[in-house]
Amino acid sequence: DVVDVRGLGAEGVFTYDPGFMATSSCQSAITYIDGAKGVLLHRGYPIDQLAKHSNYVELCYLLLNGERPSKEEYQTFERTIRNHTMVHEQLANFYKGFRRDAHPMSILCGVVGGLAAFYHDHLDITREEDRQISAIRLIAKMPTLAAMCYKYNIGQPFNYPRNDMSYAENFLYMMFSNPCEEYQINPVFAKAMDRIFMLHADHEQNASTSTVRLAGSTGANPFACISAGIAALWGPAHGGANEAVLNMLDEIGDDSEENIQRFIDKAKDKDDPFRLMGFGHRVYRNFDPRAKVMKETCDEVLGQLGLADDPQLRIAKRLEEIALEDEYFVKRKLYPNVDFYSGIILKAIGIPTNMFTVIFAMSRTIGWISHWHEMISGDYKIGRPRQLYIGHPQRDYPTE
Ligand code: ACO
Repeated sequence: DVVDVRGLGAEGVFTYDPGFMATSSCQSAITYIDGAKGVLLHRGYPIDQLAKHSNYVELCYLLLNGERPSKEEYQTFERTIRNHTMVHEQLANFYKGFRRDAHPMSILCGVVGGLAAFYHDHLDITREEDRQISAIRLIAKMPTLAAMCYKYNIGQPFNYPRNDMSYAENFLYMMFSNPCEEYQINPVFAKAMDRIFMLHADHEQNASTSTVRLAGSTGANPFACISAGIAALWGPAHGGANEAVLNMLDEIGDDSEENIQRFIDKAKDKDDPFRLMGFGHRVYRNFDPRAKVMKETCDEVLGQLGLADDPQLRIAKRLEEIALEDEYFVKRKLYPNVDFYSGIILKAIGIPTNMFTVIFAMSRTIGWISHWHEMISGDYKIGRPRQLYIGHPQRDYPTE
C-alpha cells in the first residue's frame, strides 16, 4: 500500500520483507557475492585467489582501505598491528569475574564491549584518525582476547602476545604455550589458521555485519558495535554453525550408510527442527566458494598430519555426497557452507569446539570494522526499520 511513510504528508511505498530477503540496507564497495554462481569478491579480488596468494593481514588492509597495500604500506600496517597486540593489564580482572566454565563467546561479548572503557582517548568517531586507530586496536587485540578466553576456561595463566611472530603464529602461541612447556608452532597449522581467518574475514550484509552497522548508525563507539556483532554471530544459524557441525558429526558417530541416511531423513522431516548443520545459505544457491577452499585446506592439513582417514572427515565427506544427490537438497539448492569443513581443521589443530565461534568472531572483526568505517565515513542515517502492526486497534482503558 502507498502510505504516508513519515507522517509528514509525503507518500512512499512501505515494504514488508521479513528476514530482509529482498531489501538492500546500504550501499557498499567492500564485498560482492553472486549467490547463483558461487562468486565471492573482496574489493574485486576472488576469494580463492586471495586465499592462495595473500594473507590475513594484507586482506585486513585491503578490506579496510579499499586497495592492496604497497610493500612499505604493508610493512607499516603489520608493524602497527604487532604494536597493539597487548591488552590493558586491568582487563584480566574482567575475565576473573566470569565463571571458569562460561562459554568463551559470552566472555568475548563482555570483554570486547569493555575495551571502550580503556580507549577514551580516541573515541571521536567523526575523526578518521580515531576510526583507524580503533580498527587497528580491534584487529590486533582480538587474538589476545580470544586466547585469554581459552586460557581462563582451562585455568592456565594468560600468555602475553609475542610480537616477533606472525598474526596466526602468535594466536597459536597464546592459545597453547604454557609456563612449563613452550609450544612448538607447526607451520602447517599456522598456514591453515591464516586461511581460516581469511575465509571468514567478510561476507557483506550478513546478520552480524548488519547488526554492527545498525548499532553504529546510532553513533555508538566501535568497540560496543563489534560486541553487538559478536552477540549476533553466536547463534547456531550463523557463526555458531561451525561448533554445531562438529557436535552433529559426533552425534552421527560413524560413516555407515544407514546411520548417515537417518540424519539426512531427520533434516528433511518438516516436523523435526533438526537441520543439517553447515548446509545451506541465505545468499548462495550454489557451492559456497569458501567451502571449496576450506575442503582443500582440510585435506591438506589432515594429509600432512597423517590423518587423511580421520573418522569425522569420512563422515563429513559421505554426508556431503549423499546430501548432494538427494532430491530434497538438490531442489532447494542446499550446498555445504564455509563452516562444514572448518571445524574438522580446527579440531586437528587442537582447538576445542567451544572456541570455534570465537575464532570466527576474531576473523570477522575486520569485516565488521570495515563496514562500520565505510558507513561512518560516508552519509548515513540511523537504522530504524518500520513494522507491520498486527495488534489491537486503539481501545479505551477501563475506568471501573
Ligand atoms: N537442512 C535441512 N533443510 C534446510 C537446511 C538445512 N541445513 N537449510 C535450509 N533448509 C530448507 C528449509 O527447511 C527450507 O525448506 P522449505 O522450503 O521446504 O521450507 C528451505 O531449505 C529454505 O531454507 P530457509 O530456512 O528458508 O533459508 P534461509 O535462507 O532462511 O536460511 C540458513 C539459511 C539459516 C543458513 C539455513 O540454511 C540453515 O539453518 N542452515 C544450517 C545452519 C548453518 O549451517 N548456518 C551457517 C550459515 S553460513 C554462516 O553463517 C557462516
